[in-house]
Amino acid sequence: IVAPRVTKLLAADAAGIAEAARVLKVGGLVALPTETVYGLACDATDPHAVAGLYAAKGRPSFNPLIAHVPDIDAARRVGHLTPAAETLARRFWPGPLTLVVPAIEGATSELARAGLSSVAIRVPAHPVAQAVLRAAGRPIAAPSANRSGHVSPTSAAHVSADLDGRIDLILDAGASAVGVESTILDCTGEVPVMLRPGGLPREAIKEALGAPLASPAPRVVEEAEAGEAPLAPGMLASHYAPTIPVRLRAREVKPGEALLTFAGAQPPGAEQAVARLDLSPTGDLVEAAANLFAHLRALDSSGAIAIAVVALPRHGLGEAIADRLRRAAAPR
Ligand code: TXA
Ligand code: MG
Repeated sequence: IVAPRVTKLLAADAAGIAEAARVLKVGGLVALPTETVYGLACDATDPHAVAGLYAAKGRPSFNPLIAHVPDIDAARRVGHLTPAAETLARRFWPGPLTLVVPAIEGATSELARAGLSSVAIRVPAHPVAQAVLRAAGRPIAAPSANRSGHVSPTSAAHVSADLDGRIDLILDAGASAVGVESTILDCTGEVPVMLRPGGLPREAIKEALGAPLASPAPRVVEEAEAGEAPLAPGMLASHYAPTIPVRLRAREVKPGEALLTFAGAQPPGAEQAVARLDLSPTGDLVEAAANLFAHLRALDSSGAIAIAVVALPRHGLGEAIADRLRRAAAPR
């Protein structure tokens, strides 16, 4: 049970940013824009604030949080950057990349790390996130600002729909540019392992490392999908879920269904769809990622009995899109 809070909604101007930093410093919960999705922020060093954040999201407390910092120097105070992490941080931060490295004890609360000896670190590029992080002056834990298991928010309205009355403040800076969460790489070993495809495509990382990425061992994936393993809980099978069923690689639209299409594709039955949205009429995967969560939410409330989704390309951001759609369609 979460004690009700009055949720303020402010524009992300200088006054809003100052208020966000103030609320964070006293242990409050602030939804703020990043370039990937809106995050629900709290002081990562304050176990009470972190406990409140888990409760507001309804998130299982074994699921660790990403520590957000403004730059690589601040990152070095939170975790030990391994050689691969160092290379990738220099190349891609600030940006949609999260690096898991050995944690520096005491730099973030154990609860925020869910007891792990590693820590996930991200340096967001969004100017509002940057300004809040600098003003707060401490690592900030920020999962996506949705109820656990729901579709991630790419606007202040999405945040409000999920968390109004459960958090202290929402900073509104319009729609998120990238639209899917950061790519997460485990850099604790010799070869980085991709734990979650996201806003930075695999191809760019491969190119920077001059070597392919490793994939998690099949056993690890299995345990994570069964909800057992604490190592990469973001890989829980059912996630990003609309309230109605999602049907992938649809080749036709069945009666009562809504259609989520791409590049103008019109499968048989499309004219009868309850609602129809195109992720990118021109076939641009960057645009498709930016539209994904907003389109899922819109079709979810269209009155349809299910969402039929056409097949999409898998390269570039297509890998992250496919991952989110697979979880949205997973049995609950
Ligand atoms: O783009 C993003 O990453 C957004 C914005 C707000 O920054 N944040 C986000 O956080 O997506 P969240 O909590 O929804 O997802 C973080 C994922 C979780 O799946 C968690 O299991 C994983 O990161 N994670 C955190 N710490 C980890 C660790 N030490 N080892 C492995 N996975 C970790
Ligand atoms: Mg999330």
